[in-house]
Amino acid sequence: MSDSQRIQHIEAARKLISSLQTNEEKMYELTYAQPIVFAILQTGLDVGLWAGWTKAGGHAMTISELCQVCEREIDPKLLSRMLRLLAAANIIEEIGEDTFKSTPFSLACGDDGSFIPRSIQCSTHHFVMTDITLPKYLAEIGYKNPDDPVKSGYAFWEPGHRDFFARCMAEPDSQNFFSGWMRCWTDQKLPWPVYFDTNTLVEGADLSAAPLCVDIGGHHGIDLSRVVDKHPDLPNGSLVLQDLPECLSEVKGLSEKITMMPYNFFTPQPVKGARSYYLHCVLHDWPGDKARLLVENIANAMKKGYSKLLINDIVMPRTGASLTQTVMDMQCMALGSAYERTEPMWTSLLQEAGLKIVKIWPDGRGYESLIEAELA
Ligand SMILES: C[S@@+](CC[C@H](N)C(=O)[O-])C[C@H]1O[C@@H](n2cnc3c(N)ncnc32)[C@H](O)[C@@H]1O
Repeated sequence: MSDSQRIQHIEAARKLISSLQTNEEKMYELTYAQPIVFAILQTGLDVGLWAGWTKAGGHAMTISELCQVCEREIDPKLLSRMLRLLAAANIIEEIGEDTFKSTPFSLACGDDGSFIPRSIQCSTHHFVMTDITLPKYLAEIGYKNPDDPVKSGYAFWEPGHRDFFARCMAEPDSQNFFSGWMRCWTDQKLPWPVYFDTNTLVEGADLSAAPLCVDIGGHHGIDLSRVVDKHPDLPNGSLVLQDLPECLSEVKGLSEKITMMPYNFFTPQPVKGARSYYLHCVLHDWPGDKARLLVENIANAMKKGYSKLLINDIVMPRTGASLTQTVMDMQCMALGSAYERTEPMWTSLLQEAGLKIVKIWPDGRGYESLIEAELA
């Protein structure tokens, strides 16, 4: 089964479940069951259950054995009730009275190399509060479409009223949890050199003059590592990873072909005349003037007829947007008063900075697309 078929089956199964559920069952699952399942999953993380169980091999264990693998002391009666819920939610498997077996997912919850534990922490730390307070925030701003990144839904509840990235820069835990989430999310995507022909960049590139690709807001460098995988003969320094210094300080183990460069993308782009400038999931964090400034800073560094701007983001379909696309749109709204863009919105954002779309390369999964643009 191909990956896109697998995703289509999930969508079809979701539709089937939805058509079978009564209104009351839908309400119960959404508002009563999911929140407590998530809260107990997080509690498992807090007491070190997942890490301890994974380290012990994940095999079937009784409640008293599982109490022993936890890093914190926990009442066996409490753990038993927690695990009964998580077995009913298919997060672990119940194989007998008070005896449970792990699943691939619960094993990943205990393996920091999977980035799942930090993603769960990220939801608790950043997303859940933003979502739960969103109705109050939207009422406060009179149900206008949010467009002020400073007065975002995130800043509404955050004790210091900081925006999302400001808090990440100020607090190592906030940055660390976000980095884990970002890594987890980007890792599972199809590598962009699979659906965009990077050979067209390499051919005709003058790497003695400027880099092949500058990944702006590239965070962990996965996307440039994927270029290295496809083009192992590139010279050192032909790829540049730019992000905020607080973010880059966490990045380790990149190829020597990738140069890290701390940079604030609201200031002039220091790398001039690169073959390509790449933005993945960056513009969807920024509305209006901020997005325009970011794109203008790139356009001003581009060489006409040579440089490309490559935007890897959602191109929101006019109808039939998927759950992953619409969830991302609403989370960008809640976190930063931002949004996913339709093709006309992308066209006008680029036009305002003197750029034009050359081609849109869909990822084949119905999620993101790579927008290839150049100076008009
Ligand atoms: C949603 S993440 C995308 C990361 C990566 N491109 C990916 O797709 O996995 C947005 C990135 O923008 C970075 N960022 C936010 N504000 C920035 C700024 N002013 N200058 C440079 N990078 C910034 C964040 O640190 C983060 O890595």
